[in-house]
Amino acid sequence: MFSEEINPALLDSIRGAESITVLTGSGISVESGVPTFRDAQKGLWANYDPHDLATPQAYQKNPKLVWEWYEWRRQLIAQASPNAGHEALAKLESHTERFSLFTQNVDNLHQAAGSRNVTDLHGNIFRTKCFARGHIIDSWPTDTLLPPPCPRCGSGLRPDVVWFGEPLPLEAFTKATEAAEACDIFFSIGTSSLVQPAASLPYLALESGSLLVEINTDQTPLSPVVDYQIRGRAGIILPLLIKNTFN
Ligand code: OAD
Repeated sequence: MFSEEINPALLDSIRGAESITVLTGSGISVESGVPTFRDAQKGLWANYDPHDLATPQAYQKNPKLVWEWYEWRRQLIAQASPNAGHEALAKLESHTERFSLFTQNVDNLHQAAGSRNVTDLHGNIFRTKCFARGHIIDSWPTDTLLPPPCPRCGSGLRPDVVWFGEPLPLEAFTKATEAAEACDIFFSIGTSSLVQPAASLPYLALESGSLLVEINTDQTPLSPVVDYQIRGRAGIILPLLIKNTFN
């Protein structure tokens, strides 16, 4: 379906589902003021080349630039609050026996909205680790070179996010594949479904017989295979979906 009108059969399926798995991407945070990556005008990758900022090689080449870019994003995200879409997912969790939410976002907004079973697939921008050994660091000297040195080993600090060419945290991705394979309904929300391995999760759900629902303002490569394609903003669609399902 292509409108904001929601099919009653989907509402029945949500009411009857014992297990729901959700994958979110940057589209769900747009209404909180956090830009997506691939929007042609406003997306982060419209203005910056990911190879200059989001790879281990970029960091080795220009660690100060990478540190400062993430510091800028951290400050932008720190000012953002969860929107109605994040909040609706927290409500959906409270109505569902087994609910797992996996996000490619690093912004902590699902946790801030009250979602409990959230797994960060691409790390978290508010955590910092050192480049050489991956020591997780809570505080660092601020009156020093950028990036600041790791207080434990002296190597440069970096955000604890997954960069291109880096593997996802194994435990997080294993949990995601298991949840995708074991759910009754899988929601793909606000993601372009282009970045692997997260983009493989809805296909695992489909192969396991789950109902597949996509909520997105645009068509994606996943759209042709989903059972319900709901075209619209997550911050509008999700509250509507929850209201119509549970009221
Ligand atoms: P993208 O920028 O690739 O895609 C965002 C998606 O959100 C697009 O399909 C938009 O149509 C959709 N969208 C925009 N506004 C929306 C709204 N209000 N409601 C619903 N949908 C909306 O972002 P991701 O799919 O999250 O990885 O990108 C995946 C990964 O690529 C990111 O985690 C990041 C990036 O490079 C790393 O940095 C490793």
